[in-house]
Amino acid sequence: MTDQTKYQLTEKDLPEAWYNINPDMPASPGPILHPVTKEPVTPEFLSVLFPMRFIQEAVSDQRWIEIPDPVRDVYRLWRPTPLIRARRLEKLLETPAHIYYKNEGVSPVGSHKPNTAVAQAFYAAEEGVHGFTTETGAGQWGSALAMACNFFDLACDVFMVKVSYSQKPYRRIVMETFGAEVTPSPSDRTEFGRKVLAEDPDSPGSLGIAISEAIEAAVKSDGKSKYSLGSVLGPVLMHQTVIGLEALKQFELAGEYPDIVIGCVGGGSNFSGLAFPFLHENFTAGKNTRIIAVEPTACPTLTKGLYTFDYGDTAKMAPIVKMHTLGHSFVPAGIHAGGLRYHGMAPHVCALYDHGDIEARAVQQLGAFAAALQFTRTEGIIPAPETAHAVKVAIDEAIKCREEGISKVIVFNFSGHGLLDLAAYDAYLCGELKDYEHPEEKIKAAIELLPEIPESSIASG
Ligand SMILES: Cc1ncc(COP(=O)(O)O)c(C=O)c1O
Repeated sequence: MTDQTKYQLTEKDLPEAWYNINPDMPASPGPILHPVTKEPVTPEFLSVLFPMRFIQEAVSDQRWIEIPDPVRDVYRLWRPTPLIRARRLEKLLETPAHIYYKNEGVSPVGSHKPNTAVAQAFYAAEEGVHGFTTETGAGQWGSALAMACNFFDLACDVFMVKVSYSQKPYRRIVMETFGAEVTPSPSDRTEFGRKVLAEDPDSPGSLGIAISEAIEAAVKSDGKSKYSLGSVLGPVLMHQTVIGLEALKQFELAGEYPDIVIGCVGGGSNFSGLAFPFLHENFTAGKNTRIIAVEPTACPTLTKGLYTFDYGDTAKMAPIVKMHTLGHSFVPAGIHAGGLRYHGMAPHVCALYDHGDIEARAVQQLGAFAAALQFTRTEGIIPAPETAHAVKVAIDEAIKCREEGISKVIVFNFSGHGLLDLAAYDAYLCGELKDYEHPEEKIKAAIELLPEIPESSIASG
């Protein structure tokens, strides 16, 4: 152990390959099924939506996948990101625990999302498509994809969840500054958006609805545009593993090894990015690190959702996957952590949770903001509301160490800064925010709409 605060790597330490967890999965994440036939999808179906290299990564069993040079070149703008020991926070909490965070907020758009946006944009540019359609919740993903598309000369068409579009105008401006087109969802630009608006003109939108609109726009573009997803799918989780791979090297510099790894989960990508390389050590090197996924009580996918097959979007256009789900029609409360308002969860994360390799915890919005304030006032950085959920559990674990008189090494993924989420902090400071429990009846109703899957398709996983 050293007395340093910041553990910095140099550009030459940038990982050369991503870690693909597929060959090490202790339980199958299940098949990807066609939303209409409910049979395993063909590469032809997926290729309407995604670039070919992305599809190949999804089915690859190669443990290490080389990061293409043009992607590493862009990563160099902000990577490797620092691993920081939160000494001042430790002092505030009077904890013997050592708290570290991997600061993904230093990327140009302020979150981990460019780690996959850049890779996906490179693959699309390589195939010569015109651009991407996508959805965004808080606007972090949309900003990342807008930047990446701009670097690779692609158009970027973003459907932004309406509640965030009004709460977070600055992220819309970031996207537009990069040259993207941004539409509040539900919108009248798509058949599905018009249907939602006809039923509920005041719909706050949801990630599920925005995904449906983005998919519809891509499918109807006659091959001009592909669809890009910022989380959930295997290749997205894999692109994020640069985070954990760098962190492993940084812990060597620190002379410590984490006992607990923490990440917030929306679709599961920043969590997986930090956690999977440590899980690899658990699986292959006899390590025993606890891994905790943190979600909001307003959208408690892992802790309260059913582990079954469901559509990835509300309009039933996206593939069906096996995941913990609150039902594809579930519209969560408009909490400020917009990026955590997704009805489902990455199938890999769900399979690991179901198998007992990782833990999950749901936290309330007010507790998350209180923790974020403690972090801001000691470490000087304002966390994104999503990230605040991870901060909360890191603090809870550090307090437990104090109470039990034991020292543990805790690391959490600082997935993004909150400098464009100040309206949320304003609402918190003015006492306007409230906690939400998930409405049990709504989930029950949504779960009744789950698709019925033939045995032969289930067995194909
Ligand atoms: C800062 C930040 N953290 C976390 C998330 C959650 O997404 P994921 O679970 O894919 O990391 C988001 C999503 O928008 C985000 O913007």
